[in-house]
Amino acid sequence: MSRLWNVAVAGATGAVGNQMIRCLEERNFPIKQLKLLASSRSVGKTLSFRGAPIAVEVLSDHSFEGVDIALFSAGASTSLKFAPAAVKAGCVVVDNSSAYRMDPLVPLVVPEVNPHRIVSTPGIIANPNCSTIQMVVALKPIHDRSRIRRIVVATYQAVSGTGQKAVFELQNQIKDLLDGKAPEIKVYPYQIAYNCLPHIDVFLDNDYTKEEMKMVHETRKILEDDSIRVAATAVRVPVYYGHSEVVHVETEEKITPREVRDLLREAPGVVVVDEVTAKKYPLPLMAAGRDEVFVGRIREDISTDKGIVLWVVSDNIRKGAATNAVQIAERVIELK
Ligand code: A2P
Repeated sequence: MSRLWNVAVAGATGAVGNQMIRCLEERNFPIKQLKLLASSRSVGKTLSFRGAPIAVEVLSDHSFEGVDIALFSAGASTSLKFAPAAVKAGCVVVDNSSAYRMDPLVPLVVPEVNPHRIVSTPGIIANPNCSTIQMVVALKPIHDRSRIRRIVVATYQAVSGTGQKAVFELQNQIKDLLDGKAPEIKVYPYQIAYNCLPHIDVFLDNDYTKEEMKMVHETRKILEDDSIRVAATAVRVPVYYGHSEVVHVETEEKITPREVRDLLREAPGVVVVDEVTAKKYPLPLMAAGRDEVFVGRIREDISTDKGIVLWVVSDNIRKGAATNAVQIAERVIELK
């Protein structure tokens, strides 16, 4: 029988952590023991894995004895605090937070794009930002065909990217408004129901947000090309699951929309949905619950000579976070 592994999920009670557990289950990850870790707020909770209950334990420096792979989804400060202890205990940590992504010694991996960066020795492998993951899955085949010089992207990001509390906030605000009550605003600076907020994460000195600059830096690191110019506008929209993006790409040589469609039809992890005459294009409701990146509205950018426009949609909690992390873990055990 092939080897079974001890796996821990840190942040198991959260939106991404929960999906990590479901992904491990669905993808039949060869697990001997699964440890579910969260904060002291979750003591006494149990979560189910393969039909059996597992008690949630408090995440501490001592949580990782005997653990082979630790999936972290408890936020950057928690990763900074506990990932080093996990590595010290011999784990490969797949970290979904932004804490280590731009560390030159830490691989930043999307398995369809740069699997060669995955290593199986104890250490940290970073999972990129959700918006970056789906964009680079769609852009890698184009970049391989003709180098991408410039990307201008606008995102339409689902509230689940902010965590379970934001999913409840949108539900509650819609309910309050339908009941004629003033909606309670806790998670975002403004009402998210029936609104769009051009503000994700904090504003930086250059007037871009941290989320927008993550797309700049992470895209260059994953595509291994620091010369790509990227400008992003990240917008939160009242959608529960599934981030959408309009991506304008300029390439070194001219590529036709037809060539792009053909390239993407062959690309791993991509589904092309692009038949506008039949009103077929990707939608968040189509992508939710799926692991693929859906691409459509592929057309020439008529404002430039060598430009293509794409509409890219994917489930931010699955491919944008949990699935990508589990795919990395699958490759780690193949290499061990
Ligand atoms: P808890 O449920 O005990 O607060 P989300 O992204 O959906 O908000 O979830 C965040 C996840 O990270 C939850 O599982 C949460 O646990 C966990 N978490 C947050 N802070 C800590 C911490 N300091 N130590 C351990 N787990 C944490």
